[in-house]
Amino acid sequence: MNGRAHRVVQATPANVDAAARVLAGGELVAFPTETVYGLGADASNPDAVARIFAAKGRPPDHPLIVHLPSTTSLAEWARAIPPEAAALAEAFWPGPLTLILPRTQAAHDSVTGGQDSVGLRVPAHATARALLEAFAKLGGRGIAAPSANRYGHVSPTTAHHVAVDLPDLAMILDGGPCALGIESTIVAFPRGEPVLLRPGGVGLDDLVRVLGKPPRMAGADAPRASGTLASHYATRTPAFLVAPRAMASELAQRQARDERAAVLARTVTPPSDFEGRWLRAPQEPGAYAHDLYASLRALDANGADAILIEAVPDAPAWHAVRDRLIRATSDPSDDSD
Ligand code: TXA
Ligand code: MG
Repeated sequence: MNGRAHRVVQATPANVDAAARVLAGGELVAFPTETVYGLGADASNPDAVARIFAAKGRPPDHPLIVHLPSTTSLAEWARAIPPEAAALAEAFWPGPLTLILPRTQAAHDSVTGGQDSVGLRVPAHATARALLEAFAKLGGRGIAAPSANRYGHVSPTTAHHVAVDLPDLAMILDGGPCALGIESTIVAFPRGEPVLLRPGGVGLDDLVRVLGKPPRMAGADAPRASGTLASHYATRTPAFLVAPRAMASELAQRQARDERAAVLARTVTPPSDFEGRWLRAPQEPGAYAHDLYASLRALDANGADAILIEAVPDAPAWHAVRDRLIRATSDPSDDSD
């Protein structure tokens, strides 16, 4: 790949094959998944994996998810697989679920951050699957891929978002906007029992249906997950959660201070002319999640002093969205990491 004009390429079969060769050569490729775009490297090549951390500006001890072409590859990467983990894999793979399991020797310290566990996911997106299959034909065993954004920033849901965040990346496969728009659900098994580390594309009710009971929620003893740090998924512009009934007075106060607010609203209507600084979010949680990161990036780009996000319902269907909104609006100094 030479020349920036060719960095973003359509996910045609020929380009997918070319991308698999780039991966086999130890370089990085960004690719679409059903959740968000991933920044991929050969998971078995520590030098290639190191390039992910350099490109993202991510601390090197943060573990990555290894993406697999099919559930049959699971035993190569994980051992002592609890029955609940097998049941979740069976129910939701390919799909937006990541399992944290005891690792085999296939999982190097570079991908696990030196932990005894490895994060594994079989994605459902046609391009991701085609890339994993093409890479497997070249001898690849798995693609390590975090979300393809700069560390701490909003995850990318389009190829354009990736190009903006990672301008030096050699190849970005464009498979259109991601269907789900928020990351995978992460379930770990620290003592053989399921623990929800990150809500995401697979809903809590879906997990309960398979597990027969809710998973334990991650506590202070949970394995570290950078997506679970307080101030993740953040805009550059400070963002705040505002209850629907408080929006009007919040806006009035900011206006009185001569501040320009940008708003992501769901039910509230604009009291005056906000031009591009007012975005209306969908009513339904799935559609809301689909648009969320693109909306945050758009509001972040228009030079406002603050982004006000109308709080969403405190209901199970909104669990993953609420989690992302709370992280996007928390003070970076809350990070213990
Ligand atoms: O939907 C997704 O999961 C996307 C797409 C690209 O697959 N990937 C993604 O990756 O969100 P990333 O790196 O941004 O978030 C993965 C999370 C991180 O918070 C990481 O710390 C956690 O998974 N993780 C990975 N391996 C882990 C392990 N062994 N123990 C605990 N957490 C782990
Ligand atoms: Mg991420």
